Amino acid sequence: MKILGIVGSTRKDEVSGVHALVGSVLEHTGCEYDLVTLRGKTISGCIACLGCVKDNICKVKDDLAGLRDKIVAADAYVVGAPNYYSTLNAVTHAFMERWFQFRHQTGNLLWGKLAVAVGVGGTSGNYPADELEKFFLYSFIETVAKVTGQGAASCYSCGYGESCQVGIPVMLHGPGVRITAEIIPDVTRQPATMQAAAAAGKLLGERLRSGHDRGRVTQSMQQRLMSMFAHSA
Ligand SMILES: Cc1cc2nc3c(=O)[nH]c(=O)nc-3n(C[C@H](O)[C@H](O)[C@H](O)COP(=O)(O)O)c2cc1C
Repeated sequence: MKILGIVGSTRKDEVSGVHALVGSVLEHTGCEYDLVTLRGKTISGCIACLGCVKDNICKVKDDLAGLRDKIVAADAYVVGAPNYYSTLNAVTHAFMERWFQFRHQTGNLLWGKLAVAVGVGGTSGNYPADELEKFFLYSFIETVAKVTGQGAASCYSCGYGESCQVGIPVMLHGPGVRITAEIIPDVTRQPATMQAAAAAGKLLGERLRSGHDRGRVTQSMQQRLMSMFAHSA
């Protein structure tokens, strides 16, 4: 069983909350895994050219092409994204949009696989984790767990964090905030978040090892998607 981990943050690994959480989830699966960061990659969104409808292969020539085989070969995914404007950051959104290539006809390259969605935000990571779950559902992939945490917004290190009126330090702590190491959020110092990451990894590993039935997961996700469509009509 092989898992593909994707870090959607474009910040360096050492300061990225997404990197810390995706890494921890993967470590706790007990499975073989590959960890890929989208930092430095050029990945455009889907351009709706429909070049993929016959063979489920995207024809856009950029860095996603080199990841296609890894996506197809994986039994499960751990994808993490930062919260930008209460949704996924652009590169992770573009990365997930391009999974459109797998959806055509009986394109069951991804159907019935499993995933963990990870979100990190300066306030909360719920929005990107929920968005990732929705993307997975469109490919009939079951999100077995979502892990969210509060990361260090760049406002803590930009140099203006104590005075900037639209920065996260002032918004969270009020005017007159003094930036010290203690107030800078760090997912690795949030016990509940790290426990959730460990539990998600263990659950994913157990699900993969205990006779994972892709057909059954596919059926259940199809029903869930149809029900989502019915409720949004
Ligand atoms: C352009 C931009 C927009 C952001 N928007 C939000 C936001 O709407 N809500 C939020 O909670 N954090 C927001 N943040 C803060 C990031 O989510 C936060 O820094 C997070 O730790 C990033 O994850 P990383 O540490 O893995 O890079 C934003 C950051 C940037 C650069």
